[in-house]
Amino acid sequence: MPDRGSHRNVMFMKTQPLHVHLLPDLIPAETLAGGTAIVIDVLRASTTIATALNSGVASVIPCQSPEEAFALRAELSGENVLLGGERGGIRIEGFDRGNSPAEYTPEVVSGRTLVFTTTNGTRALQFSLEASSILTGGFINRAAVVRRLLRDEQPVHLVCAGTDRQVTGEDVLYAGCLVSGLQQADSAAVQWALNDSAQLALRLWQSVVDGASCMSAAIEEYLLTTQGGRNLIRIGCADDPRLCAQLDLTDIVPEYDRDSGRIMAPREC
Ligand code: MLT
Repeated sequence: MPDRGSHRNVMFMKTQPLHVHLLPDLIPAETLAGGTAIVIDVLRASTTIATALNSGVASVIPCQSPEEAFALRAELSGENVLLGGERGGIRIEGFDRGNSPAEYTPEVVSGRTLVFTTTNGTRALQFSLEASSILTGGFINRAAVVRRLLRDEQPVHLVCAGTDRQVTGEDVLYAGCLVSGLQQADSAAVQWALNDSAQLALRLWQSVVDGASCMSAAIEEYLLTTQGGRNLIRIGCADDPRLCAQLDLTDIVPEYDRDSGRIMAPREC
């Protein structure tokens, strides 16, 4: 005999799409419209954006090329502009900062406008512009991102940036971490409908952290095995995977504002 209470819950349960896109290039046309996109570049752009905003950057202006960044600095002469970003992981010539979260301390960045360009992260944001809300996420703001997504009633799209148009494990791992967080927080009113990539991401996350005594250590260990992690070791940034593996350092959920072209820093309580 079915329990009448659970029968009632099923009747009112809302199905909410939760889709992972393993690369920006793999997002089917017109899929993101009306949804929330989370742009994910764990190593390192989305971690660095959250770190910079947490350190007091007034806003981040993402752009697609160093030339565009220099032009924006000239245009915004009334603002205290900081140029940040990388090509091939290395700070761009003439820029103030690279793409390591370690470079974005409050002493350096507080109150400034960060004009930011990276190889894959800002490109992924460009591919996400069709979504009605565009957020960025990393392990450092995982719980805040989950809380924010639980408030939304729209389809969720986790957009993995990848590296040079190849799928990267670190972004898929974080996507799986969000899928797991959303499922665990599942209220009686929502049932997440996962696409196959979301199921793959979830399996990856479970295989990395199941049985781990320290989650951040397990994440770091995995990040060091990915293409992005190996690139960072090669260019002398071996400490960055550890920084990017830290969990829940900030409640900031960076959100792109289409009108101003800026990423702002609302805190998620
Ligand atoms: C990117 O956007 O391509 C990455 O964040 C690269 C990097 O780690 O610097």
